[in-house]
Amino acid sequence: MTMEQTFIMIKPDGVQRGLIGEIIGRFEKKGFSLKGLKFVNVERAFAEKHYADLSSRPFFGLLVDYIISGPVVAMVWEGKNVVVTGRKLIGTTNPADSPPGTIRGDYGIHIRRNIIHGSDAVESATKEIALWFPEGPIAWESAIEPWIYE
Ligand code: PPS
Repeated sequence: MTMEQTFIMIKPDGVQRGLIGEIIGRFEKKGFSLKGLKFVNVERAFAEKHYADLSSRPFFGLLVDYIISGPVVAMVWEGKNVVVTGRKLIGTTNPADSPPGTIRGDYGIHIRRNIIHGSDAVESATKEIALWFPEGPIAWESAIEPWIYE
């Protein structure tokens, strides 16, 4: 089976509000495997690189200020269709419009303080994983996979 990987970041508000365990738990309980995890104080230049595609947007400066305002949790998660399914677990950009049951829908109110980032496509996941985990994700086989996939 082809397994996909995605880059997930718990943003500074998610960390400050004590949502790290809750968010990791949702991805774990769904059946995805954690392949990389680090707690990072992001430098401004690094945040600008991560969000380079949004550099012409009016909110770019505020988005970067927010991302560097406190530590973030950077992760690589693996599983079948994890990019698309991970975005479903996260919900839509604006937490106010995100359905209950999603991470943003359950825990957020404001568009910028939306708790979590997830790669929007397989190509961006590959780029973001290479940026945040230049050493590469951890290679290990989860023992629960035979209980999740046929
Ligand atoms: S877009 O380009 O706005 O349609 O794309 P979207 O995927 O919705 O958002 C991309 C990232 O930009 C953040 N965003 C904002 N930040 C601050 N203020 C405003 N108004 C705003 N609108 C969008 C949004 O949270 C996305 O961040 P990530 O970390 O990629 O989820």
